[in-house]
Parts: sequence; structure tokens; C-alpha cells
Amino acid sequence: MFESLQKKWKVNGAQLGLILCTFATTGTLTAYISRSITEWLKLDPINDWELRLALRLIVLIFGYQVIILIVSFFFGQFKFFWNYEKKILRRMKLMPPASAQIAIFASGKGSNAEKIIQHYENHKHIHVKLVVCNKPGAGVLDIASQHNIPTTLLNKKDFFESNKFIQEFEDQGITHIVLAGFLWKIPENMVKAYPGHIINIHPALLPKFGGKGMYGDHVHKAVLEAGDHESGITIHLVDEEYDHGKTIFQTTVPIQPTDTPSTLAEKIHALEHQHYPRQIEKWISQH
Ligand code: GRF
Repeated sequence: MFESLQKKWKVNGAQLGLILCTFATTGTLTAYISRSITEWLKLDPINDWELRLALRLIVLIFGYQVIILIVSFFFGQFKFFWNYEKKILRRMKLMPPASAQIAIFASGKGSNAEKIIQHYENHKHIHVKLVVCNKPGAGVLDIASQHNIPTTLLNKKDFFESNKFIQEFEDQGITHIVLAGFLWKIPENMVKAYPGHIINIHPALLPKFGGKGMYGDHVHKAVLEAGDHESGITIHLVDEEYDHGKTIFQTTVPIQPTDTPSTLAEKIHALEHQHYPRQIEKWISQH
């Protein structure tokens, strides 16, 4: 249990201890304060029970949020709890969404990347900051330069065997990674550095027709050979395995007997362009 909390909150054992102390102290202190206030106001438990209850609830629900920040300061955990409070305030729509800086990873012609770039061109909170590519000369690099988006060209050794690029992305303030036709597997250290913050689109209905080597026309050929009556797209979180993380969106398209891999690819691309940019927005608002 403690290990999974450490993972979820990205903290070490000592920090987890201080966080748990903050929660425990805040709980006790809030209960004490809510009781003391009603006693101090000399509210009668029988005649003033509604007011007593209302006051206690206000302190327990709203006072708690303020008290936890004060207590966290003494445990040296203010930053952690302020981030935690901001998430709650954002969910309650009491604070504007955090700004997100996307890096799009792509290896090919980049039609999805282009749709995403266009969608976020004048967005208030979400910005495409960088296009990352592993293939010199790929179409996506031209698209990035047409839209004045800086690019990073990856090399295999640094990508798979060091933290060099993770460091670069963090230095540039990248908060979310969007894969749009990126053919390399995302290494474990990058998945760990961006937990739940990397997303991919797959041109079929996962878990079918996914995994290593399943990209582009290979996918559409396999779908047609399987004799399926529909295909579709899957948008999913990225983990350490190919096409494997939690699915966050799927939609389908019917297959006609006359379909070929290229007509199916066209239909799938249209679906991707229609849904991916908007689903990214939805995902970012929840992370
Ligand atoms: C898309 O079909 C996507 O599902 C897959 O790679 C393809 C990229 O196409 N992951 P494009 O380069 O965006 O046109």
C-alpha cells in the first residue's frame, strides 16, 4: 500500500511519512477546532443543533482545506499540499485549468500532428511546444516548421540509454507527451518521468491488432484478413508495453466488403483527425 502511494504521488519514503503525518495532524486539529468553536459560541446541543451542525460541517469541509496547508508548512510539505489543493479547486471549477505544454512525438507524415497543432493554435491553456521525431526527413518536421514549432531529433542511444531527453523535456516545461504515429517504444524511464501523462492513438480497436510491428497498413491488412465487420481507433495511456495502457477512448467505423487497406486507412485517419485533438483536451483536463 505504501509503495503504491509513493508511486502515485512520486515521493520517497521519508516524504510519504511527512505527508501522512500532515493528514493525521490535520484531521485531529480540524475536529478539535470544530468542537471548540461551537463550545466557545456556547451553542446549545438541543436548541441550536442545526447551527452547531452547520458550523461543524463548514469547519470540517472548508476549514480542513486551509488547515491542511498550514499544517503542511510545519512538516515541510506545503508544495505537495498546495498542488493537491489546486487539483481540488480545478475540479470544482474554482480555479482556471493549469497550462499544459505538449510535445508531439511522431515518425511519419504527421497528419495527426498537424490537426493537433491547428486545434491548439490559439488555445488559452494548452500549447504545442515541441515536435519530437526519430526520423530525419519525416513529413512531420516540415509541418512543425510551417507552424513555427521547434523540433527535436532523437538518437537511439540517448533515447534508450540515458535521461538526456527527459531532462531536456523537463527543462522546456513539457507537461504532456502525445504520440501520433511514433514508432519507437517509450522507454521505462520516460514512462516513469511522465506517469499518466503520455498518450497514444492506435488505428484499430485494441486489444486486437496491437503490439510490435502493428502499425500503418499492417494493422488494416490484419483487420481485413480477420474478416471483421468494423474497425476503429483507440486512444490510450502509454505504459512500458506496446499498445497496452488504459484505454480512454474508442470509436468504430463499419468495414465494407469493398474496403482495401488503403480505403480503410483513409476512414481511420478521418476518425483520428476528428477525435484525437478533442480527446487530448479532455485527458489533459483530468491530469
Ligand atoms: C495514425 O494512423 C496513428 O493511429 C498511428 O500512426 C498513424 C500516424 O499517421 N499511431 P499520421 O502520420 O498522423 O498521418
